Amino acid sequence: MSDAKLPILIADDQRDVLEALRLLLKSENQPCHAVGDPAAALAAVKKNLFAAALIDLNYTRDTTSGAEGLELLKALKRADPDLPVVAMTAWGSIHLAVEAMRLGAGDFIEKPWDNTRLVSVLRNQIALGAATRREQRLRAENRLLREDDNDEFIAGSRSMQPVLSLIDRVAPTDANVLILGENGTGKGVVARLIHKRSQRAERALVKVNMGGIADSVFEAEMFGHVRGAFTDAKTDRIGRFEAADGGTLFLDEIANIAFPQQGKLLRIVEDGEFERVGSSRTLKVDVRLIAATNADLGAEVAAGRFRKDLLFRLNTVEIHLPPLRERREDIVPLAQAFLARSALRYQRIGMHLSPSAQRALEDYAWPGNVRELAHVMERAVLTAAGAQIAQLEFSLPLGSPASTPSAHTTLDEAEQDMIRSALDRCSGNIQKTAEMLGLSRAALYRRLEKFGIRAVD
Ligand SMILES: Nc1ncnc2c1ncn2[C@@H]1O[C@H](COP(=O)(O)OP(=O)(O)OP(=O)(O)O)[C@@H](O)[C@H]1O
Ligand SMILES: [Mg+2]
Repeated sequence: MSDAKLPILIADDQRDVLEALRLLLKSENQPCHAVGDPAAALAAVKKNLFAAALIDLNYTRDTTSGAEGLELLKALKRADPDLPVVAMTAWGSIHLAVEAMRLGAGDFIEKPWDNTRLVSVLRNQIALGAATRREQRLRAENRLLREDDNDEFIAGSRSMQPVLSLIDRVAPTDANVLILGENGTGKGVVARLIHKRSQRAERALVKVNMGGIADSVFEAEMFGHVRGAFTDAKTDRIGRFEAADGGTLFLDEIANIAFPQQGKLLRIVEDGEFERVGSSRTLKVDVRLIAATNADLGAEVAAGRFRKDLLFRLNTVEIHLPPLRERREDIVPLAQAFLARSALRYQRIGMHLSPSAQRALEDYAWPGNVRELAHVMERAVLTAAGAQIAQLEFSLPLGSPASTPSAHTTLDEAEQDMIRSALDRCSGNIQKTAEMLGLSRAALYRRLEKFGIRAVD
């Protein structure tokens, strides 16, 4: 119990009972707030957040029926549905305990109580309450995220049909899924889509960017830690796996996990079992894993940088997202969706693409895939003079056909072209050009130098 910072509410009309409970909880390092009647208990819960409530069912007005206590229980649950409530009943009044549980009590204690049992009941209820609250928060966050990216998945092209049908088939199962594809092909969107169409849709989708976790905190982040496990561990903390319990864990950029950390993941991925850092107690979670990467994991395995056994656990089903240049029929519908989104955001009504602009988009190689297209469309909305977006609005390296042999050349060329045409349009003004390209002045200068572009400011 010692890790809980929130106090426990204790309600009983007998002073000696309150005093005994207070001493017991104090010895467990658990703060508490004691009240002597139902009205005070309800007022306290309406005002403050408690880790749990321990309430007697019998109060002075009527010392045996438990009616007052049950009323209080109902009122507490109405005031804070997530508050774990433990009911205390007189010895032998099991029917009251049953009634209390039916009304939402998490557990009950018979008086006179056994200290060890009381402490363990409270400890469990506190943990459950904390987990419920956390889950509620995550669910709310997820709802926000979902609303935020109310992403319609656009995939009408022929090469996306096998992808769509695979998503349909695999989403409702609990199979682990590995999503592969170049940068910006929509791996994140597909991960959300799978979760949304799964049986776990109402539970959390927890995302972890595996490239963003320092080696030193890897285990604590993923598995949680107990208080005192290391200097900064002031309290117990649950890890990402526990946060995703019952839901989905999205391991993004999976190829970026350092080799030693991969071994640590293997066990939990195999049987859901793990220990929090600093604890020897084995915990178990029920988590569906979705992983994504733009790396060639087969090559990583061959090079000894990625564990084969881990790969085989993650890739029960593999979804390959084709690059945008291999689904040309989707380019214009996607562009139009992004156009509508940006037009709405920037309040530019009636924006549309000229036929030549559509052709230009279809002819471009899109090394940055769907994300690049989204950015290009946003920029076009911002810079177009009228409602029609013409070809010249894109600053695309025209004439870089889809089949350019080297992606490297394409990217460099694309960049040079964008910079030149942006400079043109800003009449050489460096500040404006940098803003238009979303670069800092310094970053723009570095590129001008790299490409040997002369700008007259
Ligand atoms: N099929 C699609 N329909 C609609 N929007 C899409 C589609 N695919 C991708 N997008 C949009 O394109 C952008 C990039 O997608 P996302 O972030 O999922 O790509 P990614 O493959 O995860 O990229 P990275 O490898 O860089 O992490 C997002 O804004 C996403 O909403
Ligand atoms: Mg991504």
